Amino acid sequence: MMNLKGLTMTSIRISDGIVKDEILVVGLANKSTKGSKSTALSIESGDLALDNKALLATLQDLGATGKAEEIIKLPGNSTRLIVFTGLGKASPTYDNEVLRRAAGSAARAIAGNSSATFSLPAKNAQAIGAIAEGAGLGNYLFDRFRGSSKSEQKTPLKSITIHSELAKKSDVKDAIHKAEIIATYTHLVRDLINTPPSHLTPETFCDAITQAVKKAGGASAGLKVSVMTDSQLKSKGYGGIIAVGQGSSNPPRLLQLSYSPKGAKKKFAYVGKGITFDSGGLALKPAKGMEAMKSDMSGAAAVCAATIAIALLKVPIAIEAYAPLAENMVSDTATRPSDVISIYGGKTVEVINPDAEGRLILADALVKAQEGKDLDGIVDVATLTGAQVVALGTRTSAVMTNNTEFSEKFLVSTKKTGEAFWPMPLPIELRASLDSPVADLANIGERMGGMLVAGLFLKDFVADELPWLHLDIAGPAYNESAAHGYTPVGGTGIALRSLVQLALDSISQ
Ligand code: BES
Ligand code: MN
Ligand code: ZN
Repeated sequence: MMNLKGLTMTSIRISDGIVKDEILVVGLANKSTKGSKSTALSIESGDLALDNKALLATLQDLGATGKAEEIIKLPGNSTRLIVFTGLGKASPTYDNEVLRRAAGSAARAIAGNSSATFSLPAKNAQAIGAIAEGAGLGNYLFDRFRGSSKSEQKTPLKSITIHSELAKKSDVKDAIHKAEIIATYTHLVRDLINTPPSHLTPETFCDAITQAVKKAGGASAGLKVSVMTDSQLKSKGYGGIIAVGQGSSNPPRLLQLSYSPKGAKKKFAYVGKGITFDSGGLALKPAKGMEAMKSDMSGAAAVCAATIAIALLKVPIAIEAYAPLAENMVSDTATRPSDVISIYGGKTVEVINPDAEGRLILADALVKAQEGKDLDGIVDVATLTGAQVVALGTRTSAVMTNNTEFSEKFLVSTKKTGEAFWPMPLPIELRASLDSPVADLANIGERMGGMLVAGLFLKDFVADELPWLHLDIAGPAYNESAAHGYTPVGGTGIALRSLVQLALDSISQ
């Protein structure tokens, strides 16, 4: 059973005093001028003065370049080690995402130590927050399922300190507090994704979120969880969730997590795809790569954890989060190609391909989310299509919408977080490919532009006048290659930061 023993609040301190930790992390940039062969290096230690001359000579000897992802460790003076993390091209100010990644790479590289101070160039609360966030996000380990190899794993830092002479400013303190929450709840998303489907079922997903909500203060934080069981879903007509889950001995659920602050300025619904394992059902996926389908609940984890984070940040925006949860399996009770199901609210769908299951559970949840609610917007988050990965690769997610004003606003929010999102169209001419000869629509259509076709399917279940965003995070949700910046191998936690930022940016808009 999923447990949250591992979820500890990431604690980050801010200090303008002397560095007392084991390790000091600073930036290293290059200011190479055209024509010259050697790279001129620049130590970027923010508000901390170092003996740069001696250090630079050693760094040159070592062949340091200051490129992003480069980590160089030297013996320190007051600290055991001084760690240089690449910032790329030297500049009077650095992009917040450059700082976030540099801090994250360093945090990963010094795992196994107990404490570190990060002193990187940052002149305002946002930049300081980005460093804290990067350090906290990079400081992650998933070792719950290790036995004999557990002791070989380098444990994350127990204490992170950010050095800045702005330490006493209230907006800086707020930025550090936000970074702690972002890191902690991104770790929760990653833990849920990395937990194998033998342990993370629809039921245990609900248990884990219930526990996390309790830990966050529950009702006193304005949070409330409710869970619909499979028999309740069946009797109330949630045909999508039932159809996808009926081939599994782990029954489906619909989790609802609401955050209702006093004096809420707006209300959003966040809906996340929660397939705890996607075998493809009777359209069984090939064995190669199927193990990555434990990540098919990344959207559900992101919307739930983001809602808790929004509550802890006391954002005056109400959130109704929905996580339709099911395991897409093969058995004699599994949904057959050609079966017709009825989505919550009555629209019928011919299931041509049981591997296009995400849209079926999302349709139920989208309809439910709009029921009698005065929403200002609705956002769904899903590892929905392989076509998304083909179109945008593994690090850029897609945004589709029925309201460009809403998506443009969202894209502004995402830029602040460093999460890469790119707008994609919903071309109306592709909709006809979803017509079915027997039902209201079919669950698959034209293969070309499969990400857009999936978006058009969902659009059928959203009121035209309600601003809606569909986020396809199929590629970025799960890192199957090497760790980079603050991103580990496995679950990444993508979308959480943008969902939180959207709420924050909606307070005054
Ligand atoms: N969960 C998958 C999509 C996916 C693929 C996520 C790769 C992450 C990485 C989804 O349920 C799926 O199987 N989609 C099918 C749809 C097709 C049958 C129309 C796909 O993309 O192949
Ligand atoms: Mn599938
Ligand atoms: Zn899926």
